[in-house]
Amino acid sequence: MAVVSSLRSVTMIAVAAFLLFAMPLAIALPSYTNNFSLPPGTGGPESIAFDRLGGGPYTGISDGRIVKHVPLRGFIDFAYTAQTRNKTFCDGRNATADATVGLICGRPVGIAFNSTGFLFICDAYLGLYVVGPSGGRATRLVSSAGGAAIRFCDGLDVDSNTGLVYFTDASSRYVLSNATQAILNGDRTGRLLSFNPRTGQVAVLARGLSGPGGVAVAKDSSYLLITEFVGGTVKKFFLTGPSANRIQTLLNNVPIASKIKRTVEGEFTFTETVAPFTHRALRINGDGTVLANVSLGGPYNNVSVVTGVQIFRGFTYVASLDANFIDPVSELGLA
Ligand SMILES: *[C@@H]1O[C@H](CO)[C@@H](O)[C@H](O)[C@H]1NC(C)=O
Ligand SMILES: *[C@@H]1O[C@H](CO)[C@@H](O)[C@H](O)[C@H]1NC(C)=O
Ligand SMILES: *[C@@H]1O[C@H](CO)[C@@H](O)[C@H](O)[C@H]1NC(C)=O
Ligand SMILES: *[C@@H]1O[C@H](CO)[C@@H](O)[C@H](O)[C@H]1NC(C)=O
Ligand SMILES: *[C@@H]1O[C@H](CO)[C@@H](O)[C@H](O)[C@H]1NC(C)=O
Ligand SMILES: *[C@@H]1O[C@H](CO)[C@@H](O)[C@H](O)[C@H]1NC(C)=O
Ligand SMILES: *[C@@H]1O[C@H](CO)[C@@H](O)[C@H](O)[C@H]1NC(C)=O
Repeated sequence: MAVVSSLRSVTMIAVAAFLLFAMPLAIALPSYTNNFSLPPGTGGPESIAFDRLGGGPYTGISDGRIVKHVPLRGFIDFAYTAQTRNKTFCDGRNATADATVGLICGRPVGIAFNSTGFLFICDAYLGLYVVGPSGGRATRLVSSAGGAAIRFCDGLDVDSNTGLVYFTDASSRYVLSNATQAILNGDRTGRLLSFNPRTGQVAVLARGLSGPGGVAVAKDSSYLLITEFVGGTVKKFFLTGPSANRIQTLLNNVPIASKIKRTVEGEFTFTETVAPFTHRALRINGDGTVLANVSLGGPYNNVSVVTGVQIFRGFTYVASLDANFIDPVSELGLA
């Protein structure tokens, strides 16, 4: 009896110790549970945004719509870019791989709100657009810059201090549906652009970039970080100070780094694809110091092209070119 009960208490201690040490580990494992399904036949939530009231996520999808997630209703139509977009024809079509569909239906791949609730949109095939807080048909702002057409509008961010819009033309040679060829050929014809909503002026800030898919403005407006999906880099473009207009490479060897987002604290998050179907999420500071580097895991092991990651109110949201869902995760270990 005594032996049994002491065995029992040893077991209890072992169980308690196991729980004690296992708990933090269990908490650190990603728990994907929400799975917000995108509309039937669509996918590719390549860029994610939230409005001033915390509504969303909003995302641009493969058939050209920008949709908004509403609790209990799921994703609903919010806005579109192509001026004559026909829902019957376009809904469910895939513009990611088909430029002809893209020109008719649109393909929004970079979105961000300004501080008064206007949504700026990089449509990969059609250029830069804006739409008001209630959505609907967006207005085209820019389709060329520096005398050359914007062939592959891609990354976009709005400076909430100045209202200036920063965006990228990922390539002057390849469109979105030819992104694979851009990667295989090591394209270096991408550009960094800016748009001033007050004057309507567009400026070319940098050329010769290698697939600049993403851009994020520093909290103090003094620099931008750019991710290059062809070159696999994170670069810093200085906006002010003695290095203004210069570019510095912060990180090399970050395969398929596509979109980059700033956190409320002023750090930055993005993803890299280290092997097929194997994606990692990273958090860095403005000097390129890696603060977190974690596996995405979960359903994202089934997704071939992950394009970015962002933290919003304690949840991490993953962007991608081919997932048919957005699955917010609360314990990724990124924050
Ligand atoms: C659209 O095409 C892209 C590129 O071929 C593919 O990765 C994606 O899964 C397709 N999306 C849908 C919803 O079929
Ligand atoms: C929209 O597309 C459908 C299907 O292709 C077609 O039948 C219809 O006439 C189109 N509507 C307009 C207004 O173009
Ligand atoms: C937001 O964008 C709209 C549309 O361009 C513009 O009218 C408004 O002034 C912008 N807000 C800020 C704070 O820049
Ligand atoms: C783009 O892709 C299409 C279809 O795969 C192909 O015919 C075309 O040659 C490609 N263009 C370039 C510039 O690679
Ligand atoms: C993140 O970690 C992975 C796995 O250890 C490594 O392959 C990758 O180089 C790291 N990325 C960076 C930017 O440090
Ligand atoms: C991956 O996809 C397959 C086939 O669609 C599915 O059976 C499986 O459950 C998925 N796994 C995860 C982790 O989502
Ligand atoms: C999430 O929902 C989509 C659409 O209903 C489904 O295809 C996918 O397998 C689901 N993923 C997970 C991880 O449950």
